[in-house]
Amino acid sequence: MNHFELRDGVMHAEDIPLPRIAEEIGTPVYVYSRATLERHAQAFRDGLKDVPRKHLAFAIKSNPNLGVLRVLARQGYGADVVSGGELERALAAGMAAEDIVFSGVGKTRAELAQGLDRGIGQFNIEHEPEGIALAEIALAKEMTAPAVLRVNPDVDAGTHAKISTGKADNKFGVGIDVAPEIFARLSALPGLNLRGIAVHIGSQLTSLAPFEAAFKRVGELVADLRAAGHSITHVDLGGGLGVPYRAGDNIIPPSPADYGAMVARVTRDWDVTLMFEPGRVIAGNSGVLLTETLWVKPGATHPFVIVDAAMNDLARPALYDAWHDFVAVKPSGETMTASIVGPVCETGDTFARDRLIDKVEAGDLAVFCSAGAYGATMASTYNSRSLVPEVLVDGDRYAVVADRIAAGTIMAAERVPDWID
Ligand code: LLP
Repeated sequence: MNHFELRDGVMHAEDIPLPRIAEEIGTPVYVYSRATLERHAQAFRDGLKDVPRKHLAFAIKSNPNLGVLRVLARQGYGADVVSGGELERALAAGMAAEDIVFSGVGKTRAELAQGLDRGIGQFNIEHEPEGIALAEIALAKEMTAPAVLRVNPDVDAGTHAKISTGKADNKFGVGIDVAPEIFARLSALPGLNLRGIAVHIGSQLTSLAPFEAAFKRVGELVADLRAAGHSITHVDLGGGLGVPYRAGDNIIPPSPADYGAMVARVTRDWDVTLMFEPGRVIAGNSGVLLTETLWVKPGATHPFVIVDAAMNDLARPALYDAWHDFVAVKPSGETMTASIVGPVCETGDTFARDRLIDKVEAGDLAVFCSAGAYGATMASTYNSRSLVPEVLVDGDRYAVVADRIAAGTIMAAERVPDWID
């Protein structure tokens, strides 16, 4: 459920007609709905109502916009960050340092030190040398780093290979079979308060079964660690819950309520604080990418609808063959079969192939739906295009929460050395 809908034949974001944003801000532009973000944040929390002790950390890689983060901070969310840059964003948005979890397989020593200096709540350690480094840095600062060990449960998340993270041959975490010995060595280090386990098996999961399989393995590990005398107070179950991308699709991801019920059942006897790192399930359907049709060009089989958004603005179709519904802002009721492409000079700049869509003509506005997660954050300036702006709608008002950064601004940061010539 989201707040992008047709009113009197015109698509609105909450109470704002999208043509108004197109006219005042230009296209392409991301448009987020505050009410939808809040609704999803609340739905995820409600789903976990039977989990007594929990901590919610929004995976800010999915949408790191400061305005979006502030909305979620107000909802009581902390942050899951994966870089020093994300850490500073979470703080700048008003999230409390102790509510920040630092994940990521390649944290630098400087980033570990930054996390300690900022007083973040937890480090998710990805392998033994990282844990040793963190302990050393913390000790030198006369601090103790709160940490959990990320394990790789070797479970197939059943999602796209590029966003699957819990198989044995993925780069993430330590093998669950070797976790007890690594945990024992790391927990003996002064400077480290190793207090639990983390797991995250992938993103856009559309079934509960892989989650449940992974969580059960983690539950067994927790029991083994306790039997070996370790104190386990925290388990981080990661993110990964999928969202519907395609209207009428017969693959419907589990609801937050179903997910929460499964979590409550599987973890009933764990007696820990459970931590969650949802990203897409909060942000995905809270945003659209608004675009204008530039041209409709005849093709060999079907026409090409050439829009002013491109793969640099929304990379997911080019990267993962991801589906985003394409809907006219003022649908006429007529349809057409077309391929939807952007202006970038490669065939990968294709949003949809031979798809039945609302009929559009040059000048018509349309949206790519479900673009609030992994949209603007993955944008680039490829082909010297501008960096796409972002707008946040709240009822009958809106604000530009990220400017369009012109190609000229990017060029201004470049130099031609005087020794060329
Ligand atoms: N926690 C960790 C450790 C993660 O690596 C991720 C996502 C999350 C939480 C949040 O997962 P979510 O709840 O959003 O599924 N760019 C890709 C998705 C990459 C996900 C990376 N990790 C896409 O556009 O589909």
